[in-house]
Amino acid sequence: MTRLSGTALHQWRRQLLAELPGPSSGLDWLLDLEAGLSWQLLQASQLHPERELQLRCGLDHLAALWRRHCSDQVPLQYLLGRCPWRDLELAVSDAVLIPRQETELLVELAGDLVRATGSTPRRWADLGTGSGCLALALARLWPSSEGWAVDRSAEALAIARANAEHWGLPGARLHWCSGDWWAPLAPQAGSLELVVSNPPYIPSAVVDALEPVVRDHEPRLALDGGVDGLDALRCIIGEAPRMLAPGGWLLLEHHHDQAKAVVELMQRAELVDCRSAADLEGHARFALARRERP
Ligand SMILES: C[S@@+](CC[C@H](N)C(=O)[O-])C[C@H]1O[C@@H](n2cnc3c(N)ncnc32)[C@H](O)[C@@H]1O
Repeated sequence: MTRLSGTALHQWRRQLLAELPGPSSGLDWLLDLEAGLSWQLLQASQLHPERELQLRCGLDHLAALWRRHCSDQVPLQYLLGRCPWRDLELAVSDAVLIPRQETELLVELAGDLVRATGSTPRRWADLGTGSGCLALALARLWPSSEGWAVDRSAEALAIARANAEHWGLPGARLHWCSGDWWAPLAPQAGSLELVVSNPPYIPSAVVDALEPVVRDHEPRLALDGGVDGLDALRCIIGEAPRMLAPGGWLLLEHHHDQAKAVVELMQRAELVDCRSAADLEGHARFALARRERP
């Protein structure tokens, strides 16, 4: 436990940012997650700098993490080994994509669909589960459902499974499947009432030009969608009519410029009710469609 005044903290913060410039929001995030100093307390300490603050760790420890983040461009989430997402805090390593805020919306969209249809899905799947963020969120939304979470990366699946154990989800209802997209789900063909996926969708050349903090540390398997970014989406959409239950929904995240292409792929696969949905900034980043009922 470290005790210091707001004045001392802000002086330390200013000096560190001057020595190792980076987005101050990143340093504040570190203060919150690692030192337990919430953003509200940090703000209040500007108004009352004389008040004493308590940190869970020392300033040297925080400065060392910030130094590694700035000099080696390692994401803070990997340095801490955890990441807040929705109402969860998830373990992460460089074997999994750091769950993004926009992906939280996929869960909202899934919830909206289910509310509109009026019945909770009994069987659902998450393709490319990574940290398990989507699978965990769906399992918590619908505790009596059965879910299958697939990933080609064994290391990612181990993290997803550990996250599920940490959050105490009933293991028997959540199946962790190693393999290529639909392949491990052959026994479930035609019975999945909802399938969500945030697959790799960034065109290879764009991945090469990403910021080093992403390109050099997050798994290429989680980012690279091939030449046009659509390799995984083509594969997932192409098999969806066979794998979904009649009336079952497919809900996908995609790159900001792929909405038209993804909806066309869905239409070509003879899915129905194909449409896009926007993220919080109004960009079409999601596509949804369902298998027709006979
Ligand atoms: C963009 S990440 C999404 C991770 C997580 N669902 C999320 O939203 O944060 C894509 C995931 O797909 C997995 N993946 C890539 N190719 C795959 C394949 N052929 N079959 C199954 N999973 C694959 C990657 O390992 C990665 O975990």
